[in-house]
Amino acid sequence: MRKLILACLLAVCPFMGVASEGGELPGFKVDLTNRAGLQRGARTFVNYCVSCHSAEFMRYSRMAHDLGLTAEQVQANMVFNGGDANQVMRVALAKKDGARWFGQAPPDLTLAARSRGADWLYGYLHSFYLDPARPFGVNNAVFPNAAMPHVLAGLQGTQELRDGHLEQVAPGTLKPAEYDAVVRDLVNFMVYMGEPAKLVRYSLGIKVMLFLLVFSGLAYMVKREYWRDVH
Ligand code: HEC
Repeated sequence: MRKLILACLLAVCPFMGVASEGGELPGFKVDLTNRAGLQRGARTFVNYCVSCHSAEFMRYSRMAHDLGLTAEQVQANMVFNGGDANQVMRVALAKKDGARWFGQAPPDLTLAARSRGADWLYGYLHSFYLDPARPFGVNNAVFPNAAMPHVLAGLQGTQELRDGHLEQVAPGTLKPAEYDAVVRDLVNFMVYMGEPAKLVRYSLGIKVMLFLLVFSGLAYMVKREYWRDVH
C-alpha cells in the first residue's frame, strides 16, 4: 500500500512542478487572510480603477460585509457616483466612449484575476514603461501595446525599458517597496473579487477540519471500546 501511494506521488510531482512554472512572470503569493490588506486593496481599486473599469459582478454591500466594513463607511468613502451601497461597481464611462478614447474599451475587471491570473496582474501593474510611440506615451512589458495609461505612475514613478530590463527613471511618491505593497494589496483584492466565496470557504474549511479531528478521536475511542473484549 505504501509503495502504491509513493508511486502515485512520484507520478504526480513532475506535473505539479510544470504547472507552477509560469513563463517569465514574477511569482505572486495570494494572501486572503489579511483583512486590512484587502480593505486597502479595495480602496485603491475604487480610487484608481473604477473610473474606467466596472466590476459588474461585485456589489459594494457584499464587499463591505466580506471585508468587515460598515455600509456607511463604504457609502461615504467608496461609492463615488451618488448611488447607494447596494449597487454593483458600475462605471460612468460608456463603452463606446471608452473605445473611442482609448482605442479599446476598458474591460470589466470582476473576473480579471481568474482570466489572467494573479501573477499576470502583479506583473502587469509593475511593467509600464515610457514609449513615445504609444498614444499615452507608455507601453507595458507584460501586455505589449496595452491601450491603458499608467494610472499608478504618480505612485510608482516612471520606468524605461533598457536591454530588456525595466529601469526606474523618475521616482513616484512611493518608494519601490511601498509601491509593491500597494500592488500586492490591490491584486489580493482582485483575487477576492473574482471569487468572494473563497473567504467563506476558508473559514468553513477550518471548522470542518476541526470537526473531523474531534470526530476521529471519538471514532477511535468507540473502536477501542468495541474491540476490548475480543482482544
Ligand atoms: C484611464 C482609464 C483606465 C484606468 C483608470 C484603468 N484602466 Fe485598466 N485598462 C484601460 C484600458 C483602455 C484597457 C484595455 C487595454 C487593451 O486591451 O489594450 C485596460 C486594461 C486593463 C487590464 C487588462 C484586462 C484584460 O484582461 O485584457 C487590466 C488587468 C487592467 N486594465 C487593470 C486596471 C487596474 C487594476 C486599474 C487601477 C489601478 C486600472 N486598470 C485603471 C483603461 C484604464
